[in-house]
This record gives sequence, C-alpha cells and structure tokens, in this order.
Amino acid sequence: MSDHGKAKLQIDGKDLELPVTVGSEGEVGVDISRLRPETGAITLDPSLANTGACESAITYIDGEKGILRYRGYDISDLAMHASFPEVCHLLIYGRLPTRPEREGFRTRLTRHSLVHEDMKKFFEGFPPSAHPMVILSAMIASLSAFYPEEDTEEEIDLNIIRLLAKAKTLAAFSYKKSIGQPFIYPRNDRTYLENFLLMMFAVPAEPYDVDQTVRSALNKLLILHADHEQNCSTTTVRTVGSGGASLFASISAGVSALWGPLHGGANQAVIEMLEQIRQDGSDFQKYVDLTKSKDSDFKLMGFGHRVYKNFDPRARILKEAADEVLDKLGVDDPLLEIAKQLEEVALADSYFVERKLYPNVDFYSGVLYRAMGIPTDMFTVMFALGRLPGWIAHWLEQRNAPGARIIRPRQIYTGETARPWEPLDER
Ligand code: CMC
Repeated sequence: MSDHGKAKLQIDGKDLELPVTVGSEGEVGVDISRLRPETGAITLDPSLANTGACESAITYIDGEKGILRYRGYDISDLAMHASFPEVCHLLIYGRLPTRPEREGFRTRLTRHSLVHEDMKKFFEGFPPSAHPMVILSAMIASLSAFYPEEDTEEEIDLNIIRLLAKAKTLAAFSYKKSIGQPFIYPRNDRTYLENFLLMMFAVPAEPYDVDQTVRSALNKLLILHADHEQNCSTTTVRTVGSGGASLFASISAGVSALWGPLHGGANQAVIEMLEQIRQDGSDFQKYVDLTKSKDSDFKLMGFGHRVYKNFDPRARILKEAADEVLDKLGVDDPLLEIAKQLEEVALADSYFVERKLYPNVDFYSGVLYRAMGIPTDMFTVMFALGRLPGWIAHWLEQRNAPGARIIRPRQIYTGETARPWEPLDER
C-alpha cells in the first residue's frame, strides 16, 4: 500500500492502482471494484474471511481487543443502562430516542403486538414436535401475506414496527403450541418485555406477575444479541434484501440462517453438550482432548469466533449475569458450574491458547435462559428476537446505500470443460 492511500496490484504484467478505504476506526479496505473490469481477474476468498462486502455505520467490533459497539456505544454501557426498545431505536434509526420518542416507540411496539387472527390457523398445521425456529421463520415470511409490501418510507417504517412487535407474539405462540396450551394475547398496558413473558408463561384465568429479575435478565440478553455486523444471518438478510425482497421475506431468511449450530443454534448445542458432559461424569479434559483428536469432529460448542481473538465481551457480561440471576432466582443449576470448569480447563490448554479460542456469547446464555424457565429448543428463537433490530438496520442500510446493487459474487469454475452431447446408448 502506498502513502497516498492506494494499493498496487500487478497481475499478468499489468499494474493496477486500487483505492483504499479507511473506516472511522482506522480499518483499511482495499477497494477491488475495478479489478474484474480492468484485468478480468477476481479475488478468491472462501468463507469471505477477508472480504468487506459493504461499508456500514451500525456496529463496530475489534476482535483483537474484544470491543463491541452499537452506533458508537459500548456494549457494556448499553447492557447496563439501556432498555431493549431503546437499543432497537438506536440500531434502526441511528440514535438513542429522546424521552417523547421513546414513549411513542414503546406505544407503537405494544399496539402492533397482535397478529392477524387467521395466522393462528397456521400454527395448527404444525406437528407438536416442530422446532420453534421453523415456525418463526415460516410465520415471519407469512406476515408478507397479511401486511402489504412496503414502498414508501412510511410503509417501510410501519412494517418495521409490525415485525418487531409481532415477532415476540409469534415466538411465544410457537412455544404455547409446542406445550399444547392456549395462546395468551398481548396487552396494551404491558411493555415489550412484559408482554413477551406474559404470552410465554401466563395461563388463562390466572394472574401473572412479571418477575423483575427475569425481566431484567431478558432485557440484557436481547441487547447483547441485537447486532453483530456482517455475521452469517445478517449477510443473508442483506443479500436477500439486495434482490429487492420485502422486509418480512428477508428477515425470515435471516432466521433460517441463524438456526445452524455454528451460528445462533450454538446456544441450544451448548446446553446439550454440558448435559452430556454432566451425565458422562464431568470429565472436562476428556472433552477438551476430544476436540483435538484427528478422529473426532467434536468441537466445544460456545467456543471460538471468526472475529474475536480475545474474550467475546458479551460472554463476559453473561457469565457475570448468570451468577447474579441464578442467585437472585434461587436456582441451583449444575450446568453453570460445569460450564465454568470446562472454560477453565479449555483456557489452560495450549490448543485453545494457540488458536485464541474463548467462550462466545452462546456459552453462558443458555444457562440464563434455563434459569428463566425458557426451554432449550426456544434458545435460538430468543437469539432471533434479540437480533431482529440488527437485521432490520442492515436491511435498511443495504437498501439505502448509494449505488446499491444486487449482491452477486463470482466464482472460480472447476468443473468439466466443454464436451459434446452423448446420446443415451453411447454413455
Ligand atoms: N472447539 C474446538 N476447536 C475449535 C473450535 C471449537 N469450538 N472453534 C474453532 N476451533 C479450531 C478449528 O478446528 C481450527 O483449528 P485448526 O486451525 O487446527 O484447523 C481453528 O480453531 C480455527 O477455527 P475455524 O473453524 O477456522 O474458525 P472459523 O472462524 O471458521 O469458525 C466458529 C468460527 C464460531 C464457527 C467456530 O469457532 C465454531 O464452530 N465454534 C463452535 C460453534 C459456536 O459456538 N458458534 C457460535 C458462534 S458466536 C454466536 C454467533 O455469532 O453466531
């Protein structure tokens, strides 16, 4: 790279000067948009680990230092002081709301909580064993059938509010369906978080008081999951949205992308792994050794991250919160102790040290969800509820980016070269 902010590339004897973009935190990107038109070559970056697919003003991560900020605010400040709806406002509109804006936003999030009554019929069609992630993804896509596709700024904004407000209703309904209980409707005198807990845990004709420890733990969990820049599901949302798909269709694709165990599905996988270790006599070294064995593809779920090569700041906050919340709720979960001991053994092991593998956000979140009474197969749905404002912010940013084009990568073809058609009898 030269002093003048240009990078030089030589390919097949041809020199190309590439502009360099520097972000507000000093991150450097070599702009290769003229590479193919001028040389015919493309870059090859499987898994996109070195590729910046966009410029973004939403979330900043420094993986080496373990920093995470939404719109400039440190994640620990937000987790300690903000409410989840405030963070939704921050991510989507770019700034924290004023007091009147916060009240107006909260009211809209509450008023739009009901889903069209006809959508209840969809729930009936799923078998009781259906994973709540498939229901959530299908239901969010189905919102497109009930609420017209957005065109103007106002319509887009209304659909954003609808999505934020209704997703929690759909999530809670999917849980009620799985346990065979009647749906509980949201109420206009309850806040966003209270309504979610009410719809999850209340039963008809019985009063339901929201436990403030549970409410505040939920607030923290949702905030910590609210955005994480260009991860697998967010990239999916931006990609689907770049083709002009509606908000609901794009976010539904994001929910599906999140489901995998290497991504949001890891929180469920962590609890299953901790349970397996517990039942197997809590031999932590055995499982750490298993990750190193060439004959096994076992990984410590909830460990490692593409970007963090240091502690994931979200995991630090959740580890502390797990102690505090379990204590306050009087829950004694052996899996918390197992998680802590496993972390200690792994972090002392050279395999994990050399590869800079630390606990990520999913390592302690499951223990908290369990203490709050949320069943294991709902964990990834909780992640999705938290991630909604981030997906929405990225969908909007992609849509409004100057000169935005459809996302369409290239490839290096490695298949057969041209060959003649072979008649059936000659094959
Ligand atoms: N346990 C054991 N070894 C691991 C682990 C792990 N959890 N994660 C990575 N490694 C090893 C990996 O085998 C590789 O070793 P080697 O260099 O000898 O081949 C090395 O560390 C680098 O890993 P990688 O697979 O190249 O890293 P990646 O950036 O492609 O994958 C990851 C990142 C998160 C998918 C991976 O660390 C992983 O599978 N972790 C477990 C699943 C998990 O917890 N996912 C949640 C991620 S955080 C929430 C979210 O944003 O979705």
